[in-house]
Amino acid sequence: MILASSLASPSTLIRLSLHVLAACVWVGGQIVLAGLVPTLRTLGDEAPRKVAQAFGRLSWPAYWLLIITGFWNYAAVHGSSQSSSWNAAFGIKMLMVVVAGLGAFLHTRATTAASRGVFAGIGTLATLAAMVLGVLLAG
Ligand code: HEM
Repeated sequence: MILASSLASPSTLIRLSLHVLAACVWVGGQIVLAGLVPTLRTLGDEAPRKVAQAFGRLSWPAYWLLIITGFWNYAAVHGSSQSSSWNAAFGIKMLMVVVAGLGAFLHTRATTAASRGVFAGIGTLATLAAMVLGVLLAG
């Protein structure tokens, strides 16, 4: 038997569209910026730093939007009454969100190229994990 799926309600449409839009900017922006760094270096010593600062003016609002819409998601799907495996995945996702934010922040504050690279790597891996866990939670 084939079950017909129904369309998302207006509030679900707004909630998930905002969450996914913010994830696109936060996750996708980091990947695109990393890919552009070699080209930016050819434009001058200051170019990567200036572009990274400009990106920060977009990425941090996206991060806070992820957190606001994330709590909206949790309330809307009644997280506290979901299964224990769902809540375990949610807990790991929250840890990944914190590590992603800390990694990105420490990356901007790092004073050596090596520590900048380590924090960027940790932050990006945690960000990707948070994204995949989000898809897992959405079911
Ligand atoms: C780095 C930050 C984050 C990323 C990249 C991210 C990404 C995602 C993605 C891609 C989805 C799947 C959306 C879909 O398939 O429709 C999702 C769902 C979800 N996210 Fe996040 N998210 C982040 C932060 C948060 C935070 C901070 C919370 C909670 C406070 C949260 C709670 C949820 C919940 C509960 C769902 C399931 C929503 C549903 O089933 O309707 N997320 N997330």
